[in-house]
Amino acid sequence: MSKIRVAVIGCGSIAKYRHIPEYVENPNVELVAFVDPIIERAEHYAKELGGKAYADYKEMLAEVKPDAVSVCTPNYLHAEQSIEAAKAGAHVLVEKPMAVTDEEAAAMIEAAKANNVKLMVGHNQRFMPPHEKAKEILKTGVLGKVLTFRTSFGHPGPDAWSIDGANSWFFRKEEAIMGAMGDLGVHKSDLIRWMLDDEVSEVAAFVGTLDKKDTESDDNASCILRMKSGAIGTLVASWTYYKGEDNSTMLWCENGVMRIGTDPVDQVIVELRDGTVNKYQTGEISTNEKQLSSFVIDKFVESIVNDTVPAVTGEEGRASLKVILDAFASQETGKVIKVTE
Ligand SMILES: NC(=O)c1ccc[n+]([C@@H]2O[C@H](COP(=O)([O-])OP(=O)(O)OC[C@H]3O[C@@H](n4cnc5c(N)ncnc54)[C@H](O)[C@@H]3O)[C@@H](O)[C@H]2O)c1
Repeated sequence: MSKIRVAVIGCGSIAKYRHIPEYVENPNVELVAFVDPIIERAEHYAKELGGKAYADYKEMLAEVKPDAVSVCTPNYLHAEQSIEAAKAGAHVLVEKPMAVTDEEAAAMIEAAKANNVKLMVGHNQRFMPPHEKAKEILKTGVLGKVLTFRTSFGHPGPDAWSIDGANSWFFRKEEAIMGAMGDLGVHKSDLIRWMLDDEVSEVAAFVGTLDKKDTESDDNASCILRMKSGAIGTLVASWTYYKGEDNSTMLWCENGVMRIGTDPVDQVIVELRDGTVNKYQTGEISTNEKQLSSFVIDKFVESIVNDTVPAVTGEEGRASLKVILDAFASQETGKVIKVTE
């Protein structure tokens, strides 16, 4: 089979640390184009890895006609670029949050269907080994029903991550639309839906900008979720964990507790009410400092090669986004919002 010709749109940090190196490692892929309006960023990869550099993604789509694209740009561009790529016949892997409104997410799903291409959303939390292990344990039934949970993701913020540092689009609300909630909160809404095999039915939230300067992007959020199953819990997203970075989840269940990502060595710990303690060393959760394979790129490529449904569909990305959008609605209205009936 000939190689899948992939173009990367947006040559910032997530392209640098995850998409580009993981495509390079994938034997089924040939990187054919890189796009960034700051053309030196695209040229850097074209020079190093081959392929062409473009400042304009539409020009790239028309000239290169790639088989697939990765959309690694600021949030407000995800929908437009994904839809245009689908119309050009390219499979789309879009970073999270997949879009900035529910309507946009729906239009992306529609465009992928209409053009018979795959649409996958980069929700990599699902593929982190501790999370896969936790889901496997839950499925065995040993813990019984999940009663309550907390899931949180906090780090010092994109000033320490984005290719543009403190001048990043993450801090320009018109481009980010959502700050810590779009960056980190959506990871956790996706994780909890997937891990519990459940949907969020209601959300109440406080979202605010507490410490980042000269920005209207939210830097902290605390949300309360009620799941369809009846479980209730909290979801926290923060860009101001200057110390004490956290990417952990705890599930308190009928028969005990599961701690995920709370200990650097034993990434999953199960303590049962009968006194049994089981510890699992599955491999770590990726952090900004320590980037581990996301598995997202391999799974996207696999879905193209085998013509199967991608591991995280547009519908899944849309449902996870809806929770975050409704959390903003809760903050704005001071009300509890019904996410799904
Ligand atoms: N899955 C994850 O864990 C994860 C982690 C970080 C970021 N992300 C997501 O990835 C996306 C990109 O974030 P980042 O951290 O790489 O940001 P970044 O600021 O490091 O890079 C963004 C790049 O996009 C470029 N860009 C801007 N407009 C463009 C356009 N019209 N066409 C092409 N490129 C354009 C910028 O010049 C910049 O080089 C965001 O949606 C973010 O939420 C996902």
